[in-house]
Amino acid sequence: MTPSPADAQSAGAPTGATAGLTPPDVVRCAYAELVVTDLEASRWFYTGLLGLVVTAETKDALYLRSFEDYLHHCLVVRQGPVAACAKLAYRLRSAAELDRAQAYLEAVGATVRRVPAGTTLGIGEAVQALDPLGFPVEFFYEAEHVERFTQRYDLHGAGAITRFDHFNVVVPDVPAGTRYYQGLGFRVSEDIRDDEGTVYASWLHRKATVHDVALTGGDGPRLHHVAFSTHERSQILHLCDHLGAVRRSDQIERGPGRHGVTNAFYLYLLDPDGHRIEIYTHDYYTGDPDNPLITWDVHDNQRRDFWGSPVVPSWYTEASTVLDLDGEPVPLVERTEQREAEVTVGADGFSLNRSAEGGEGKIGQQV
Ligand SMILES: [Fe+2]
Repeated sequence: MTPSPADAQSAGAPTGATAGLTPPDVVRCAYAELVVTDLEASRWFYTGLLGLVVTAETKDALYLRSFEDYLHHCLVVRQGPVAACAKLAYRLRSAAELDRAQAYLEAVGATVRRVPAGTTLGIGEAVQALDPLGFPVEFFYEAEHVERFTQRYDLHGAGAITRFDHFNVVVPDVPAGTRYYQGLGFRVSEDIRDDEGTVYASWLHRKATVHDVALTGGDGPRLHHVAFSTHERSQILHLCDHLGAVRRSDQIERGPGRHGVTNAFYLYLLDPDGHRIEIYTHDYYTGDPDNPLITWDVHDNQRRDFWGSPVVPSWYTEASTVLDLDGEPVPLVERTEQREAEVTVGADGFSLNRSAEGGEGKIGQQV
């Protein structure tokens, strides 16, 4: 783990089609919309297990929020024929930013449409787009305010979810995806590389945490996971106990553990349709303008799990289909560069757990 050159942050400076354009001022990632095939099974997972609050429901959708949300929702779960991701939404700093978002996305060649307030329940006028990476995104400011349940401790379960934290998306070309998000004003907090210059993943933020969106190298576009945060590690452990007690431990895909990248304590769950949901806590503040970028060696066996625990193969290979603005699956583009799972086995493989200066380099006994 070594700091990277600061000039990595300027790689996404507007050029070409976006030269002279001011990107929209994005505050943070705000909500996701997932298509599920069994709404009642999802109701148990998202409200019975995770304890998310139902703000509203229609005959085919649940609008859910976490305990600190005062906006209408941070997750929409909608019944549909095939499990997929239908939307990744970002909040803007003001309604005036909608015009900037539309102009910027049109300039980078995205398919863009402006939709009136109420197109999504609880959300005001918005700019929707199939972005250059192939993801259905939305940018909005206006949203219905609802009661914030921060101190409704009478409603908080032992595994209480505090906030929505981030999206993680699979893209074939991580540097290209990173440049796109840097152009939108995101800053890179961490990445994973090798000595030959291949970039396997990157983490980018607008709010002052490690990320609002992470890019994972692979066949894409696909949604790798969405993540919610808790206040405490104990709340994550309780979710594991809860799943064990109701004989649903098979919905724990990976963890609990401590990430190397982000430093967060984590747990990966699979919802009833296989959408991956991360529960996440204890990352760090990144709000200063010179927040140092951290680069991890792809062979460092503590990058994905700080304790060196193996990564299950499904975590590298499985991800959710994404839909275009008309609800059709977006075709996959194959990754042509090396894949992380091919150069490391699990978290380990022929990997490093001590510095070469310490006399111990690559080790292979853990394969
Ligand atoms: Fe994550």
